[in-house]
Amino acid sequence: MIKAVRGTKDILPAESCVWQEIEKTSRDNLKLFGYQEIRTPVIEETALFVKNIGEETDIVSKEMFSFVDRGERNISLRPEGTASIIRSYIENNLDKISQFQKLYYIGPFFRAERPQAGRLRQFHQIGVEAIGSLHPALDAEVIALSAKLLDSAGIKGYKLKLNNLGCRDDKKKLSKMLKDIFSDKKGEHLCEDCKRRIKMNPLRVLDCKNDGCREVVRKTFKEASFICAECKTHFEEVLKFIGMLNIKHEIDPYIVRGLDYYTRTVFEITHEGLGSKDAIGAGGRYDNLSLDMGGPDVGACGFALGIDRMTMVLGRGKESSTVDIFIANIGDAAYEKAFGILNDLRNNEISCEIDYEKRSLKAQMRAADSMGAKFVLIIGEDEIVKGEAALRDMKTKEQILIKFNDMVSKIKEKVR
Ligand code: HAM
Repeated sequence: MIKAVRGTKDILPAESCVWQEIEKTSRDNLKLFGYQEIRTPVIEETALFVKNIGEETDIVSKEMFSFVDRGERNISLRPEGTASIIRSYIENNLDKISQFQKLYYIGPFFRAERPQAGRLRQFHQIGVEAIGSLHPALDAEVIALSAKLLDSAGIKGYKLKLNNLGCRDDKKKLSKMLKDIFSDKKGEHLCEDCKRRIKMNPLRVLDCKNDGCREVVRKTFKEASFICAECKTHFEEVLKFIGMLNIKHEIDPYIVRGLDYYTRTVFEITHEGLGSKDAIGAGGRYDNLSLDMGGPDVGACGFALGIDRMTMVLGRGKESSTVDIFIANIGDAAYEKAFGILNDLRNNEISCEIDYEKRSLKAQMRAADSMGAKFVLIIGEDEIVKGEAALRDMKTKEQILIKFNDMVSKIKEKVR
């Protein structure tokens, strides 16, 4: 039997209701914060990610699903959303409509990582990109929005960690500083990956999860002394606005993020319930990306939450009621009557289901129960003669009789 591809999973009905709830409350909140949805393709030219996420990042160097298509073009499944959104912003001249754009997306992303709990090859994000402002209040608002989406989804106990990476020049200074520190003896204690990183992408040494590296790094590097005055002030302002919004947070000088486009504010949200892959969401500012990609010189920031990880923290799916009314019927005449009522109820926005198999009343009641029906409408030969049916409340077990003529209005009263 052919099974689902390694690192992908089916979202079954018992779980999809949790996904729908997360997506719905998120969309409501995103509207509240002035965001509009953008949907971009899941495939893009590989160069988009290589140039903009960074050639030496883990995502680009080892995790992309890339292929050459029939037209000899290099294509990749999108590993993240930010580069695609900025591409679309520039390509569709969205800055000409309004230079400031608040965009959000919900959808699948792909990274060829080694699969484990909470780490998938097809995963899903809710992401936002606020493009067109350098103002520190925007950083604070974006961070507040990430917390609001998690709160509204019912996720408790997450931790928000912030850092200031400074501008591109500051990042260069930090890279050089780390290279200098770890090129000598201290570097010998780093893991093999970090030894490579020191040469190619020194910043990533700071957030290596390897215990040995963490110890060496924490002993050697304490604070961001390399940051310029302008970036320092910007971050202080961000913290001031975050304070005004009452958002609980920690400053963590070891957060650098795995994508090269970030500058200034970066943040990560972690949750203990996720084990070693503990990031439930992350984001930050990326003020050079639009200009680098040939677009206008605009500041921007955003974040993405991992929906798969959000559902993991919330626990397995809960059974939800699928229909308001299940129509149990006995005999051919009752079946025909029931079929008509089924249609009338659905036309009146009342969800209902019927038994197609003409099973016993007992079997039909069992089916209604496992379906989570709130009421069962029972129609038998007697009921046809009397012109009425019994409506049973599956919770209280109370039963009332309803005339066929009043059926829709009476049931509406009950289910609303
Ligand atoms: P990221 O940190 O690479 O950032 O991913 C954001 C979130 O996506 C992670 O915190 C995690 O919850 C989820 N995620 C990532 N990889 C996987 C995976 N293999 N399996 C399950 N979940 C995963 C970005 O993608 C940036 N584009 C975020 C951003 C938007 N920054 C600015 N704007």
